[in-house]
Amino acid sequence: MREQLEQIKNNALAALEASDTPAALEEIRVKLLGKKGELTAVLKQMGRLSPEERPAMGQLANNVRAEIEAKLEQRKAAIHASVLEAKLAAEAIDVTIPGEAIPVGHQHPMNQVLQQIKDLFVGLGYQVVDGPEVELADYNFTRLNIEEGHPSRDRSDTFYFTDDDSVLLRTQTSPMQIRFMETHKPPFCMLAPGRVFRKDEADATHSPMFHQIEGLVVDEHITMGDLKGALTTVMRNIYGEDSVMRFRPHHFPFTEPSCEMDMQCHKCHGTGEIDGQVCSTCHGEGWIELLGAGMVHPKVLENCGIDPEKYSGFAFGMGLERMAMGRMKINDLRLIFDNDVRFLNQF
Ligand code: DAH
Repeated sequence: MREQLEQIKNNALAALEASDTPAALEEIRVKLLGKKGELTAVLKQMGRLSPEERPAMGQLANNVRAEIEAKLEQRKAAIHASVLEAKLAAEAIDVTIPGEAIPVGHQHPMNQVLQQIKDLFVGLGYQVVDGPEVELADYNFTRLNIEEGHPSRDRSDTFYFTDDDSVLLRTQTSPMQIRFMETHKPPFCMLAPGRVFRKDEADATHSPMFHQIEGLVVDEHITMGDLKGALTTVMRNIYGEDSVMRFRPHHFPFTEPSCEMDMQCHKCHGTGEIDGQVCSTCHGEGWIELLGAGMVHPKVLENCGIDPEKYSGFAFGMGLERMAMGRMKINDLRLIFDNDVRFLNQF
């Protein structure tokens, strides 16, 4: 019996050592210690021993049982620990792996150009102001010396809100001249960028909504020389020091004299053609129109309570989209408004 117990013990310890799952441990426990287990069977035979032998054998059997149970517990703990370790390893998160990049946007190309233009004028001492897009015809036309019946007032060109044509979506930023002069006394230099609206079909160079930048300078002794100086400085900054400009006579009701400012085409250098073909950038003109300008009409100053005998001024209005297209070599106006990120990403 002693050998039997020793053998059970040795086999059990070896089997427990070799098993590595909770299920295998349980199987061994049942096989040895269960009701029909090997050790239980041996204990049942105790009755056959002599009374002298019994205590020593009983002691041994208990020791064997205790040793097996201790080993069982030890293996259970070890297996539990290794299962946990494996699970933790499998679920481990590497916090040092770089995250997925979130695409970051940037300023719209037109706003980039607007910002640049604003910076330049602010550097020259201009104050930047904002005004309403829904405007009175009085500001948009009448006080700018654009009389009744002028073609630009036509219902086919202008979005009116009222039957009497007194309220409209501004067709130009020039009404900001009136609004500014109503509330400010000369001397001043102001810049008024903003949206304007006209009943135009959208194509490569037209849109029913576009942006203008209005400028107005009023002081004593302001001359056409100041106009040329300011605008030439700004345009050279934008298009390059060596760009060639010209001022060409024109007519606007709110300036006298009036002019338009052109830049020599950077593509064909003023020749109007490239390799015998009409230049596609200036359409053969050799020049690209940048803006309208002029000396503020005395009537406009008077309309705003400024004495034209004492003060004079110059004004200008440029198309922002046109500036952005020229600056960034964009050939279709609609691209600016479509907001396709594949297009916008290029700037
Ligand atoms: N408002 C004019 C337009 O939309 C542009 C313009 C021309 C503005 C001459 C001016 C100016 O201030 O002096 O065509």
